[in-house]
Amino acid sequence: MGNKIAVLGAGTMGPGIATTYALQGYEVSLYSRSQSTLERAARVVASNMELFVEEGQLDIAAADAAKGRIRYTDSVEDAVEDAWYIAETVVEKIPVKTELYALLDRILPENVIIASNTSSLNIFSIMPERRKSHTVIAHFFAPAHILPLVEVVRGPETAEDVMAQAIALHQQCGKTPVRMERYIPGFIVNRMQGALTREVVHLLENGYCSPEDLDLAVKTSLMPRGMLLGLVERMDFAGLDMMVNGLTNKSYQPAPDPGEPKMFFDAVARGDLGAKTGKGLFDYSHLSYEELLQQRDRMLMQSVALAKAFMEHPLHKTEA
Ligand SMILES: NC(=O)c1ccc[n+]([C@@H]2O[C@H](COP(=O)([O-])OP(=O)(O)OC[C@H]3O[C@@H](n4cnc5c(N)ncnc54)[C@H](O)[C@@H]3O)[C@@H](O)[C@H]2O)c1
Repeated sequence: MGNKIAVLGAGTMGPGIATTYALQGYEVSLYSRSQSTLERAARVVASNMELFVEEGQLDIAAADAAKGRIRYTDSVEDAVEDAWYIAETVVEKIPVKTELYALLDRILPENVIIASNTSSLNIFSIMPERRKSHTVIAHFFAPAHILPLVEVVRGPETAEDVMAQAIALHQQCGKTPVRMERYIPGFIVNRMQGALTREVVHLLENGYCSPEDLDLAVKTSLMPRGMLLGLVERMDFAGLDMMVNGLTNKSYQPAPDPGEPKMFFDAVARGDLGAKTGKGLFDYSHLSYEELLQQRDRMLMQSVALAKAFMEHPLHKTEA
């Protein structure tokens, strides 16, 4: 491991990822094509650090030092110079990632690790051949500076040492890396979320309950219990005989394909895109977008602290 990391892409995810590495003491270069994106990214990084200071997780001197470790550049060549690890987080489009990987292949020494933050693409199939042993997916969750999970996914030719280094890096940064031995679209969490989203759309679109009551139901049951038991340990507490009964009786039938649910398509046509426009399925117009994100992030930090405490004391026996 060296001391310099390049984060390529400074949109929604790049600033949070750069914040994470800089806080751990790495020199980070954050690349984006345009100066305006880089300027916005610098403001987001500053506000991330401010939040940690306000919440008592960082002192001002450490926040200033971490901010000073991030350098902003509009040149890929400049960004990757001397970097041992590249966090690629450009837009989720195959042609864009393909072109970037071809450029990286031309300019990087062979032992540099390329880690993509893709949410769903099989980037292993578009990576130039000789880079495949040094490629992983390291998938963060938004907001990346707050949520601990990083799904670290192995490609068919990824070297074990590269997996180990990617995992060690994120452990060192206080994240919770989770290993996936091979690629599947959506990895773990977006597959869970995708299955749940289908049910949410089905229940709302067909008027089984209101959006308020749906959220109330899960926030007072599934979610708090899930923070403690997850989804697998939960099965042990329900009883595997109950699970077997349920599976045998086919008592649960998944919701049908939602097609083009009117409720969602109409909202988008009206311009009600959610928090970012002040209105989606709920109304947020009492706060600016920035205030809303700040409030969300403060509260998220509290629930992450609780989740971490639960992780440290699992109910089942562990090897340690
Ligand atoms: N947004 C999320 O919540 C989220 C969560 C986890 C992972 N991801 C993944 O992270 C990656 C980045 O997502 P994002 O939401 O931050 O993206 P984004 O659309 O906000 O932009 C990312 C960056 O890509 C750059 N970009 C756009 N077109 C480009 C081009 N033609 N050439 C070079 N750079 C270009 C932009 O300038 C920007 O710096 C994607 O792979 C996405 O799947 C996103």
